[in-house]
Formats: sequence, C-alpha cells, structure tokens
Amino acid sequence: MGTATLEVPVTQKTATSARRIKVEIRRQASPDAKATTETFEIPYRPNMNITSLLGEIALNPVDVSGRETTPVTYDSNCLEEICGSCAMLIDGKAMMACSALVDRLLGDKPDKTITLAPLSKFPVVRDLAVDRSVLFENLKAVKAWVPIDGSYDLGAGPRQQPQIQEQRYPLSNCISCTICMEVCPQFNDATGFVGAATIAQAKLFNMDPAGSVLKEERLRALAGDGGIQECGFAQNCVQACPKQLPLTEAISDMGRDVFVQQVKDFFTR
Ligand code: SF4
Ligand code: FES
Repeated sequence: MGTATLEVPVTQKTATSARRIKVEIRRQASPDAKATTETFEIPYRPNMNITSLLGEIALNPVDVSGRETTPVTYDSNCLEEICGSCAMLIDGKAMMACSALVDRLLGDKPDKTITLAPLSKFPVVRDLAVDRSVLFENLKAVKAWVPIDGSYDLGAGPRQQPQIQEQRYPLSNCISCTICMEVCPQFNDATGFVGAATIAQAKLFNMDPAGSVLKEERLRALAGDGGIQECGFAQNCVQACPKQLPLTEAISDMGRDVFVQQVKDFFTR
C-alpha cells in the first residue's frame, strides 16, 4: 500500500478546461492535529475518478482562494479496486476512490461540490489516510489462514468439491477495504465487534480442506468478546461491500456453527 505525498512546483499545471470541479477535502496534518477543510477547483476532464482528481491537486496544491498548501495524503496502490487501500468517505458515503467516477458523482449537478473525508471509524494518519490495522488484528484473532508448516514441497493439496469452491470463491474476493466495518453500527469501541469481513474470512478458511484443521479455534474465537453475537443484523455491510461478498449469509452460517461448537464444548468439558 502506498501513501501519496507527491511534491511538485505550484506553478506546474497539467490540464486546462473552462469547466471546474469543486472539491472540499477534510485535512489533518497528523493523528493529533485539529481537522480543517480546504476547497479546491480542478479543471474538468471526462472520465476522471477521485484518485485522478487528487493527483491533479498534487500537481498544483493551491486552494480556491489562491493559497498555497500541501498535496493531500491518501492511500492508493492498484487503481483498479483490488488492493482495498483507497477507501474514504466520498460525499459522506464509504467508497473506493479509484472506482468513484466524478461524472457519476456530479450526475446532473455539474456545479455540485464533491466532499472527501477519511473513514470515520479508524484513526487518521494524515488527511484521508487512516490506520486500518484493527482488521488485520481481527483476522489474526480468528486465524484466517491455511496453516502450512515449513516451506518444503507439500505435494498436491486436498481435493475440493466444485460446490464448495463455488461457495468459497465469492468470499475470497474480499479486498480488506474495511468499508463493511465503517458502515456497521455495531463496529465501535463499546462492542469491540470484529466486523463482517473477519467473520466471512473465518468461513472461507473453515471451508478449506486444509484450513479446516483450525475450524474449532476460529469458532471459539468468534464466540468470545466482540464476536458474532455482537452483530445486530443491520445489513449495511452487505449493501456497501464493493466486491458484493455474501456477508449476511456468512454471518448466519457462522452464527450456527459457533452455536453448535458451544454446545459441543459444553458436553465435552
Ligand atoms: S467484506 Fe467487502 S466491504 Fe468488507 S473488507 Fe471485504 S471487500 Fe471490503
Ligand atoms: S487503489 Fe487499490 S482499491 Fe483503490
């Protein structure tokens, strides 16, 4: 994942156009700094996305009042909705900057001001870049991986039924963007809820013939504090996920498996 901090002379300009795009951006110089807002006007080009708009600002970081400022910091890498790094609030909605098209955001209101802000549930690193390490800590807590001991040749993996592959494939499309956590009312400090992505990945690896060796540990982890019982079935996650993961189905399936595991553990104590 890269963090953009491109510095170029303020006199440098790339595109010229009579039409301008207005964009208001929440700025924050450091994790503890006070947040401010800056407004920019960018020459319009057809088919721009939010990432290219931020690139234009980096080439000429001067706000609408003519005041010289700094390029906006944001995370970005693949530019094709694969790496999951560029999630931010665009017009108040959690979206990926690289797939958010300016023409679509403006619609039939070309004079509208587009607003950009960092995701609200994660600590700000700088400007639009946030620290989403909580997702990776949650994935570690449920051991969301296939355990492989050593780097030697293990031979062919176990066979998988096509029906299982078909169920697993959509879950494997998660890009760790954290949008499902941002939009979930239960994802907050009070509940410590792990969020839909972690539960979906636990299901993905529980269904893997090799990964299922850790199935019981994953289910016990999801039965603990911040686990699956914190889900309030708001279903915001499944609507907001940019990769259309079947998140509510995964949560239901894992809820059933966690319950069965708890009953088993109760009788074998
Ligand atoms: S489940 Fe969807 S919204 Fe959540 S992190 Fe994965 S891709 Fe993003
Ligand atoms: S830059 Fe990779 S998902 Fe947007």
